[in-house]
Amino acid sequence: MQIDVFTLFPHWFDWFRTQRHVTNALANGHGLDAIDPRATTPLKAGKVDDVPFGGGAGMVLRVDVVEAALRARYGADPVELRETRRVIALTPGGRLLDDALADTLAAEEDITLLCGRYEGFDQRVIDHFCTEELSIGRYVLAGGELAAMVVADTVLRKLPGSLGHADSAAEESFSPALEGGPEYPHYTRPADWRGWTVPDVLLSGHHEQIRQWRLEQSRRRAGGPLP
Ligand SMILES: C[S@@+](CC[C@H](N)C(=O)[O-])C[C@H]1O[C@@H](n2cnc3c(N)ncnc32)[C@H](O)[C@@H]1O
Repeated sequence: MQIDVFTLFPHWFDWFRTQRHVTNALANGHGLDAIDPRATTPLKAGKVDDVPFGGGAGMVLRVDVVEAALRARYGADPVELRETRRVIALTPGGRLLDDALADTLAAEEDITLLCGRYEGFDQRVIDHFCTEELSIGRYVLAGGELAAMVVADTVLRKLPGSLGHADSAAEESFSPALEGGPEYPHYTRPADWRGWTVPDVLLSGHHEQIRQWRLEQSRRRAGGPLP
């Protein structure tokens, strides 16, 4: 798949691209590009934003600037573009990202993520160029870059070959294998540390009992926080 991130801070993604699961995904033919709307802005001196009509603090990303960036990248009117690909505006108030949505996005061939800054987007960007708004939580970040990385991270790790062990993503929190619940607890050596022992069943070597215990733990966690 190809993930395009429109951001005023494309260099933020240089580090992200070096992370193992991301390098694996890129080596497997997937793409992650960061595109700077300043490079194609029709305004002078790299200007991309303006003061809000009606007054108020902060600056708003202009609709003409976003249109120019999308046209330059895709060679199409962004109004039509959204009929053929998901163009996602990252906003604090958007649909909350969850594992089911990440699965859906991972099944797409291409997605476009738009990062806001300052006060956010001119509403016409969202109304006319985007298919949806996506939030990574009910709090406000300074910009959409970290949100885009969260989306890209959870989507890319779902692609076959991105993780060292394919099984890691098959049975983890919120996966169908765990009935959508949180994962069970893990333990490793030493088996006893300061008297904190590992549950006997995990040392038993009895695979079916271990499977049952893990499922029970996951169900228990799904019912509420552990005591
Ligand atoms: C400072 S925020 C703008 C907040 C906006 N004025 C508001 O009150 O909703 C700047 C940009 O960061 C991104 N952003 C901030 N919090 C986010 C979140 N929780 N999820 C996704 N994107 C977020 C969005 O792209 C947003 O346009």
